[in-house]
Amino acid sequence: MSKLWGGRFSQDTHHDVEAFTSSLEIDQRLWKVDIQASIAHARMLGRQGIILQTEADQIVKALLQIDDEISSGKIAIDPTSEDIHSDIEKKLRAKIGDIAGKLHTARSRNDQVATDIRLFLRNEVQEIFEALHGLQTYLVSSAQSHTHTILPGMTHTQHAQPVSLAHHLLAYFWMFQRDRQRLADSMKRINQMPLGSAALAGTGFPTEREQLAKDLGFEFLCENSLDAVGDRDFVVEFLSSAAMTMMHLSKLSEELILWSTPEFGFVELGDDVTTGSSIMPQKKNPDVAELIRGRVGLVYGDLMGALTMLKALPLSYNRDLQEDKTFLFRGIDTVKSSLRLMHLMLTKAQWKTQKMQNSLSGDFSNATDLADFLVTKGVSFRQSHEVVGKIVQYCIEKTIKMESISLAELKTFSPVFDESVLSLLPHQAVMNARTSRGGTAPSAVAQQIEIALEFLKK
Ligand code: ARG
Repeated sequence: MSKLWGGRFSQDTHHDVEAFTSSLEIDQRLWKVDIQASIAHARMLGRQGIILQTEADQIVKALLQIDDEISSGKIAIDPTSEDIHSDIEKKLRAKIGDIAGKLHTARSRNDQVATDIRLFLRNEVQEIFEALHGLQTYLVSSAQSHTHTILPGMTHTQHAQPVSLAHHLLAYFWMFQRDRQRLADSMKRINQMPLGSAALAGTGFPTEREQLAKDLGFEFLCENSLDAVGDRDFVVEFLSSAAMTMMHLSKLSEELILWSTPEFGFVELGDDVTTGSSIMPQKKNPDVAELIRGRVGLVYGDLMGALTMLKALPLSYNRDLQEDKTFLFRGIDTVKSSLRLMHLMLTKAQWKTQKMQNSLSGDFSNATDLADFLVTKGVSFRQSHEVVGKIVQYCIEKTIKMESISLAELKTFSPVFDESVLSLLPHQAVMNARTSRGGTAPSAVAQQIEIALEFLKK
């Protein structure tokens, strides 16, 4: 196999070493951005008179053809190439002969690969950003139809206080909003151009990087060539955002799994997004949600893998860096497919609103409101907490629901109770009372939805 660097070697590379060092299987998905960066680089070389304009034109024309031919499947990536950069250059040589060799003037694979990854990641981040936006849009529109749908809000997975389904769904809206903000912020650092740093020290050729960056849509230049070829902070940063998104998706998955059990019965997942059992005919399993929950482990692993690979690397490029793509691409694929499948699963979910409401009956999630009532009558909260605790105990012993307790019974615990307390005890009233900004009352949730819609427009 012909190498980009064969000149100083008198022996062929051992086949085992070739297989061990090859990155083609992983990095071939960079082919399109590699061509894109090479085209811009060739144009710069021509503009600057580093190569002849006619040569630059020839290179660009051939690269555009290669792009077309790979796109249409007319030519394939050669599996014996060392990496995608060598493969594209080989294809270029096949088209235009020795002039192909001029493309690599004032460039190294070190700045080339760093540039390619950034170009590639930029597009992927945009797609993930849109997937998050789509999921958020679904959550808001579902919330709009469920501001009065009531279910138990939980702490410690125990009934705490009633909330609306809208409020519950919107909690995820804000998690995904922060994910989107994190991605947007990380773009400032992804969108910096290493190209022109050459191997590590820059180049003596009269290159020009500002216009080159503009041509490639980079917002900033990497200002230090040593840093530029070794910097993969943006990979870690992306994987950390992706890990957090997966963490959010795993929480939502977990709730869908719990909610679809007969014990909860708050949701029925679609037949086309669940799976059966080979032995138990009755089964309908939430495998998609479970796999999303499980695949969090992949992305956490990718993040730890990238951090560990980078630890204590001396300046500047080291071959260790080649592994960045293994972590990055798996992270991208996992978060993208998980977002897509979560969205699909949610659009097929049927909320069992009656079951949600029924589960509140006699659950004492109205106890805080009883205590708050005494406080409004001048009893200290500590004392009222104690009194209501006794009432809870009484209800449990007598198997009375707190919402059905009589005024006479209440009065035996405190003389302060009067008629007006009874209207506070139904769960809907409890929910409707939580009107504070960011609270679960329909009026507060309506305001929250307005704000969420504003964020979606940005
Ligand atoms: N395949 C290599 C990578 O992904 C390209 C850079 C190779 N550079 C080198 N000096 N061997 O990192």
